[in-house]
Amino acid sequence: MRKLYRITRWFLGILAIAIIVLGSVLAYTPSCPESPETTAQTGSMAAIQRRCYGPPQVLELVHVPRPAPAAGQLLVKVHAASVNPLDWHVMRGKPYVMRMDSGIGVPKNAGMGYDFSGSVESVGAAVTKFKIGDDVFGGRRGAFAEYLVVDEADVARKPANASHTDAAAVPIAAVTALQALRNEGHLTAGQKVLINGASGGVGTYAVQIAKALGAEVTGVCSTRNVGLVASLGADRVLDYKNVDFTRDAARYDLVVDTVGNRSIGEVLGVLQPQGIYVVVGAPGNDPWLGPLSKLLAAKVRGAFTDHPLKFFIADLNARDLGEIANLMLSGRVKSVIDRAYPLAQVPQAIAYLEEGHARGKVVISISP
Ligand SMILES: NC(=O)c1ccc[n+]([C@@H]2O[C@H](COP(=O)([O-])OP(=O)(O)OC[C@H]3O[C@@H](n4cnc5c(N)ncnc54)[C@H](OP(=O)(O)O)[C@@H]3O)[C@@H](O)[C@H]2O)c1
Repeated sequence: MRKLYRITRWFLGILAIAIIVLGSVLAYTPSCPESPETTAQTGSMAAIQRRCYGPPQVLELVHVPRPAPAAGQLLVKVHAASVNPLDWHVMRGKPYVMRMDSGIGVPKNAGMGYDFSGSVESVGAAVTKFKIGDDVFGGRRGAFAEYLVVDEADVARKPANASHTDAAAVPIAAVTALQALRNEGHLTAGQKVLINGASGGVGTYAVQIAKALGAEVTGVCSTRNVGLVASLGADRVLDYKNVDFTRDAARYDLVVDTVGNRSIGEVLGVLQPQGIYVVVGAPGNDPWLGPLSKLLAAKVRGAFTDHPLKFFIADLNARDLGEIANLMLSGRVKSVIDRAYPLAQVPQAIAYLEEGHARGKVVISISP
C-alpha cells in the first residue's frame, strides 16, 4: 500500500513538472524584431503578414511574390475578405495550446485571414469546375492579401445577387451557423430555438438560417441591436441588458450559444426535455485554454445530463458554402455588414472585432 502511495506521488510530481515545462515552452513569446521594408514590384502582391505572435501591432503590410496555382488550384484575385474571432486567436497564438500546431515561439505560417471572395485570375492544369473570370468565395489561410491560391474543391460560386463584400462575410460565420443548427442541433420546422449572441457574425446568419429551416426563433442581444435582430426575422428578441434568458419562462428545443457567458447548468434549465445545447463560442480570455475550457466543462457536465450537449468546430466545405449561396440567391439569407476597412487597416479591424461587439460582420475591402 505504501509502495503504491509512493509511486502515485512520484507519478503526480512528474506529471506536474511536465505540465509546467510544456506550459512554459508553449507560452514562450520572443520579442518581435523590426522587419525590412518591402516595395511593390512586377509579380508581387500586398499582403498582411506577421512574423511573431502578439497584438495587432505585429501585423505588417508587406509585398511578397504572387503565388502560382498547382494543378488542382485556382489563383484568386481577392476583392474582399472578412474578419473572424479566429483571426485574433491566430494573431496572438492564444490559447497557447494552439501553438502545438501553429508553431512554438514563432508562427510557422506568416499569412493571416481566412474568409475571402474574389475572381479567378488563373487556373492549374487539372482544374475542371472553374475558369478565368469566375467569381468564387471560400476560406483559406492568407486571405488578407491581393491574391490567394486555393484548391478548386474548397470554394463555391459567389451568389450572383451578392457583392464580393457580402460573400466574403459568409464562409466561417455562416457555415458555423448552418452546421450548429442543422448538423449538431438537428433543427426541424416548428421547433423553438434560442440564439445567444444573435447580433454577431455567427448569430446574424443563425437567426436567418433557423427561420429558413422553419423554426420559431428567439434571439438574445443588447438593446441597440434589438431592431436589427428583429429585422432578420427573429420571432422574439430578448435584450440581455434587461432580460435574463435563463430566468425566462420559455423552453426551447435547441439553444445555439455563440457567447458562452452563462453556466452550462443555467442553459440546460431553459431546454425542453431532450432539448439540445450547442456551444459555438465561449469567452477566449484564458490564455491557456481559451474557449476550450468550456469544452472541458461541457464534457464533464455532459456526463450528468440527458440533454445532448455539443461543442463543435465547424468544417468549412464547398457543399455548405453552396447551400448558403442558394439561401442568399433565394433572398432568405443576407450578410449584415458592420464596417469595412482597407487592407492596410487589418490591425484596426481585428482590434475592433476583439472588443466583442461587432454588429454582423467586419470586412476588408481589397480591390474593387
Ligand atoms: N465552433 C466554431 O467552429 C466557431 C466558428 C466560428 C466562431 N466561433 C466562436 O463563436 C463566437 C462568436 O463568433 P462571432 O463571429 O459571432 O463573434 P462576434 O461577431 O465578435 O460576436 C459579437 C457579438 O456578440 C454579442 N454579445 C456580446 N456579449 C453578449 C452577451 N452577453 N449576450 C448576447 N450577445 C452578446 C455582441 O452583441 P452586443 O454588442 O449587443 O453585446 C456582438 O454582436 C466566438 O467565440 C468565436 O470564436 C466558433
